[in-house]
Amino acid sequence: MNPIQLFDPASSTYTYVLFDQATRDALIIDPVDEQLERDLAVLREYGLKLAWAVETHAHADHITSAGKLAELAGAKTAAPVGCGIGTAGVQLQHGDTLSFGAQSLLALHTPGHTAGSMSFVWKTPEGDHVFTGDTLLINGCGRTDFQSGSAHDLYHSLTVVLFALPDATTVWPGHDYQGRTHSSIGQEKACNARVAGKTEAEFVAIMEALNLPKPRRMDEAVPANLTSGIRHDADGALLMQPRPVPAAHAGTYAGDVSPQLAWQWLQSGEAVLVDVRSDAEREWVGFVPGAVAVAWKQWPGMVLNPRFDGAIQQAGAGGRKLVLLCRSGVRSIAAAKRATELGLEAYNILEGFEGDPDEHARRGFKGGWRHHGLPWRQN
Ligand SMILES: [Fe+2]
Repeated sequence: MNPIQLFDPASSTYTYVLFDQATRDALIIDPVDEQLERDLAVLREYGLKLAWAVETHAHADHITSAGKLAELAGAKTAAPVGCGIGTAGVQLQHGDTLSFGAQSLLALHTPGHTAGSMSFVWKTPEGDHVFTGDTLLINGCGRTDFQSGSAHDLYHSLTVVLFALPDATTVWPGHDYQGRTHSSIGQEKACNARVAGKTEAEFVAIMEALNLPKPRRMDEAVPANLTSGIRHDADGALLMQPRPVPAAHAGTYAGDVSPQLAWQWLQSGEAVLVDVRSDAEREWVGFVPGAVAVAWKQWPGMVLNPRFDGAIQQAGAGGRKLVLLCRSGVRSIAAAKRATELGLEAYNILEGFEGDPDEHARRGFKGGWRHHGLPWRQN
């Protein structure tokens, strides 16, 4: 029997659900945070009980829902031992198996895309399957230029570990960007453009010449995936309530809200999300779908936007609350104060879009809209 193959269009990620037809015990490979509801619906629809949520590696392009599936569906989590996913209940070693009903999944260490990456073999009476994550893609392979990657290791994993599987084994990749769903070991061994018929030196030269851009969500996804996609916020009790303005600013604006609360208000239609960053920041750094853009200051020179008053009044015209977002929560306070002077109910979103710099002066790791995994996009 075949796995259920599910697709996340935003990251072109394939998620797989495998199950035992008799007992209905199931296993999910590489679940995506944004697809949690879909995946729970699939489990319900097929009458499955999720035994395991498994990762092929710590992903750089999407956040896993493994931690949430553990809470909501009672799954146990498993991840390759070399991936640093400390929250996974089982740290898989090469040769380990995971059981679901009478079925079992075999872990093969296939380093190269990352040092810990694994592929998983599922043998069924109708045929064998291998879930290759980003190690082997259809007519391609995962990149090796970051996250402890190694083209030499990947060559070994492809040619010695995966190509040793029977030719008829169905290959189920972690991604495909062209709508292809599966392949076979025989097909990839014969025709894979990166590796078929190539020496290790030729393969390494191909990988080194790729010059790929950094994944858009890497700074957000990798830290989140090291904790199975669950974030731990110190101020959980106050997370979903507005906080009063500090005494020094009493009465100057309506209050402070967490990014999570702002998102909830936006979704329920209670508030309008106003992005007060400059046009350039939204363009270059990213933006929140559904937010109204009303810059507080504009480049060049970061001068006050002369159209701010009119635009913010228009945003608040329906009488809804305004929640104001900037880079790290400074301009949004100034803008919320001005909106309050204009008679609007304006809140500041704590931590802003990018959060505060961490000890290495990097943003995106300490608080902020993106760090909390809330929706955002780049053009
Ligand atoms: Fe990856």
